[in-house]
Amino acid sequence: MANPWTVFKHDGFSFIGGLHDRKAVKDRRIDAWDIREDDVIITTFPKSGTTWMLRLVSEMYPDLHWQLKPTNLAARPCYFYEDADLLSGIYAVHVKAVQTTLHEMPSPRLMYCHAPVEFFHSAWRENSTRCKVIYITRNPKDVCVSMFHYLNSDRKNWTWDEFVTRFVNGDVIFGPWTNHVIGWKRFGIEDGVLHVKYEDMKTDLKSVILKISQFLSRPIDEDQLNRALKRSCFRSMKEAGDDVNLMPCRDENSWWAGGPSFRNGRVGDWKSHFTVSQNEMFDQRISEIMKENCTKLTYE
Ligand code: A3P
Repeated sequence: MANPWTVFKHDGFSFIGGLHDRKAVKDRRIDAWDIREDDVIITTFPKSGTTWMLRLVSEMYPDLHWQLKPTNLAARPCYFYEDADLLSGIYAVHVKAVQTTLHEMPSPRLMYCHAPVEFFHSAWRENSTRCKVIYITRNPKDVCVSMFHYLNSDRKNWTWDEFVTRFVNGDVIFGPWTNHVIGWKRFGIEDGVLHVKYEDMKTDLKSVILKISQFLSRPIDEDQLNRALKRSCFRSMKEAGDDVNLMPCRDENSWWAGGPSFRNGRVGDWKSHFTVSQNEMFDQRISEIMKENCTKLTYE
């Protein structure tokens, strides 16, 4: 079998042979998605707090009983690329098993994706239909560490040094990180996009929840707020394990089982991984680009 981790590029972004269907990426089949105005979509560069945000947003819709359980796709947020067939392999197994598609799902739908904005629905980019999009940015050093542990857990594909170089060169899934973040930053609240920083969620989750509730026009009372804070803290989510984990099927036949989804959820964990020279390289190649693009990142 060809190495499933082989990266292939399309329009400057990296996709992974074992996960992404080349033809679907090339045809941008992600555009098959039918946008509805009450759709809520969480978009992130992977490992930026997607699962956490899904948990928070589901707390805003208690009446819908959205569950993040892998066993019942109809009742859990779904990947919109499942329907668009952008991903194959472990995700497709799940879709076939439950036989449901995005089109069949009742409104409002909660979804997530990791697509660069260039691959996001063209109708959305052209401003014809709007839905609510929440984009999370996490500092890229912690993203790099989180991704390394996640991807490298069962097969040791890369050394840490190799992985940092890959990350900086954009040769990781959905990389380069800089283009992903800068691309999405072009769209703001007037386009229906709320930008949230992972680090702000860590320091003042209450304010972030209130901001989201306002953005989604879903007022929450004190009880709901406290419940959301309790249910979305790192410990509760880790304890809930597979009930809130997005990895749909850890199928024994899959070529990759996925690493820890709730590792330690820290800001600044990169400090225990990066050497001085890796850090300098990272700063020169990534932090400088972000400064030029007026994006202030929080590293600790
Ligand atoms: P670490 O690997 O650094 O621990 P995603 O859901 O986009 O894959 O992001 C995964 C990262 O978010 C992991 O980071 C995970 O621990 C962290 N995370 C998940 N839930 C969290 C929570 N409730 N609080 C803080 N971090 C959380």
